[in-house]
Amino acid sequence: MCGIIGYVGRQPALPILLGGLRRLEYRGYDSAGIALQEPRGQLTTVRAVGKVARLTEKVNAQLPPAAQVAAQTGIAHTRWATHGAPTEANAHPHAAAEGRLCLVHNGIIENYRSIRARLEAKGHVFLSETDTEALARLIGEHYQGDLRKAVGQALAQVEGAYGIAVLAVDQPGVLVVARKGSPLVLGLGDGETLVASDAAALVAHTRRVIYLDDGDIAVLTADSVDIRDRHDVIREREVAELGLTAGAVEKGGYAHFMLKEIYEQPESVRNALRGRLDAEHGTAVLAGMGTSSRDLAEIQRIILVGCGTSLHAGQVGEFAFEDLADLNAEVQQAAEFRYRNPLVGSHDLVLAISQSGETADTLAAVREAKAKGALVLGLVNVVGSTIARETGQGVFIHAGPEISVASTKAFTGQVAVLLLMALRLGRGRRLSLERGRALVAELARLPELIEQVLAQNDAIASVAARMATAEHAFFLGRGPMHPVALEGALKLKEISYVHAEGYHAAEMKHGPIALLTPGTPVVVLANRSPQLDKVWSNAEECKARGARIVAVVTAGQSADTIADDRIVIPDCDPLVATIPAAVALQLLAYHVARLRGCSIDQPRNLAKSVTVE
Ligand code: F6R
Repeated sequence: MCGIIGYVGRQPALPILLGGLRRLEYRGYDSAGIALQEPRGQLTTVRAVGKVARLTEKVNAQLPPAAQVAAQTGIAHTRWATHGAPTEANAHPHAAAEGRLCLVHNGIIENYRSIRARLEAKGHVFLSETDTEALARLIGEHYQGDLRKAVGQALAQVEGAYGIAVLAVDQPGVLVVARKGSPLVLGLGDGETLVASDAAALVAHTRRVIYLDDGDIAVLTADSVDIRDRHDVIREREVAELGLTAGAVEKGGYAHFMLKEIYEQPESVRNALRGRLDAEHGTAVLAGMGTSSRDLAEIQRIILVGCGTSLHAGQVGEFAFEDLADLNAEVQQAAEFRYRNPLVGSHDLVLAISQSGETADTLAAVREAKAKGALVLGLVNVVGSTIARETGQGVFIHAGPEISVASTKAFTGQVAVLLLMALRLGRGRRLSLERGRALVAELARLPELIEQVLAQNDAIASVAARMATAEHAFFLGRGPMHPVALEGALKLKEISYVHAEGYHAAEMKHGPIALLTPGTPVVVLANRSPQLDKVWSNAEECKARGARIVAVVTAGQSADTIADDRIVIPDCDPLVATIPAAVALQLLAYHVARLRGCSIDQPRNLAKSVTVE
């Protein structure tokens, strides 16, 4: 949510910053801005409404070529609006101290109103509606030539979340950065230092990175990094090696990142399973669960927390834990967790599910669960992310960078790992060796099962063509396919703007069926499962009210008479089938959005990685 990139070094900063912004654009794209600092300190700021391409045009139009190469220090930002509309005045960087310093910020300053009121009473005239300007001006108030000190003094007065980068005219070649609740990672180059909200923006320049901790303030120059913690104590933070490659954050010939990521799923799920299947013992080997078998045997309840797509993955996991491990499992929305006095204790395992590992609500749930003494594990994609580090134990899904705002391969990786976890816990309890072995065999087939769905891309595109003009759609499922229905609806609504609702198939007749009009598409997850007859009955009820039934069915299943369109998924265990079914619905949403001419990778109003509550 919002992207920050900063550079201090010996090369022209402009192309590095614009390149970084392009890589970060998925984190926010309603406006963007850049501040360049010339060697003698002068700051030049350009801001634009819209995408980074618009900012680039404006920079080229406003800055003469000499000015474009002169600056070797700079900061830049791509915004997802929280306070104030996406206008140029609200775009970052924000200036303060009569233009002597400027700042870019991710996060939310929760007490900005009182700061603003105080500063206005002192005569400050605010130029934007943002919380960020209040912080910039507060730093300006404290600034007397020592930027780090001023930043520290100002941050001591703010409540909320921030990742910031600040420049001052009279401290050329010095970048001060700080974080609390919003990620920042430093990139260490040869005679250059970078900072970004996301390692994806650094990978073209360096692989040596430092993840800042909450409360850290760092002073960066081309050749040095000075980090102090919240107590102003100098810290040596570990230098990590980035596992990413530059290619992993490129589209690689696909029309969209979303399509690329959908097609990566045979490989990303293979990576999630790699080395974790034990065919002989019919179990999963998950070193990251990090807990002794005895501890695991003592777990009485699993609470899965997450948001959005990760929450849906957790809902599939809930079925798996109950079915395979005979464990009481429940899903809780991360956003509510800490506000509802969760009754959690040492016999509970709290699983925090997050692709980015930075989602503010999920992170807050992690902290709450840890404070209450639960065993907390992360189920995260991004290595080095805050949730991965704060949980300290858990299982990575190894899906690789997910750039498309709409999550795809993270969902299938999360479900695959949840099935592994359920299998592992189940085998430590009552799950038979025979069922364990059968499941291992099914899981091992997953990459191939996904390939079989991807091979039907053209057929799914034809189904999408018959749905593309609809303004409303429903997705129905039962059992573990209910969360897949929710996920299918989420995918469709977020990238195609078709109003889509996911329901438990049995719930339709309790109210929502009133919304059906002739021709409304109803996507029914009618794969092989113990509840299949009931699912068909629910589909019949919709058909009788004129709905167009798009059925996701299992290959070889006896032909039904009511489906207007069919999408076939390969035959497999009903829990495992959630993954190929989800892939089919991802493709369906993708093609509907494509046919409707939508901005698939950057849907309106959204941003990747929600680091505010
Ligand atoms: C939907 C989507 C979001 C995220 C949610 C949680 O396609 O991407 O719903 O799933 O914001 O994000 P993470 O998993 O990063 O915690």
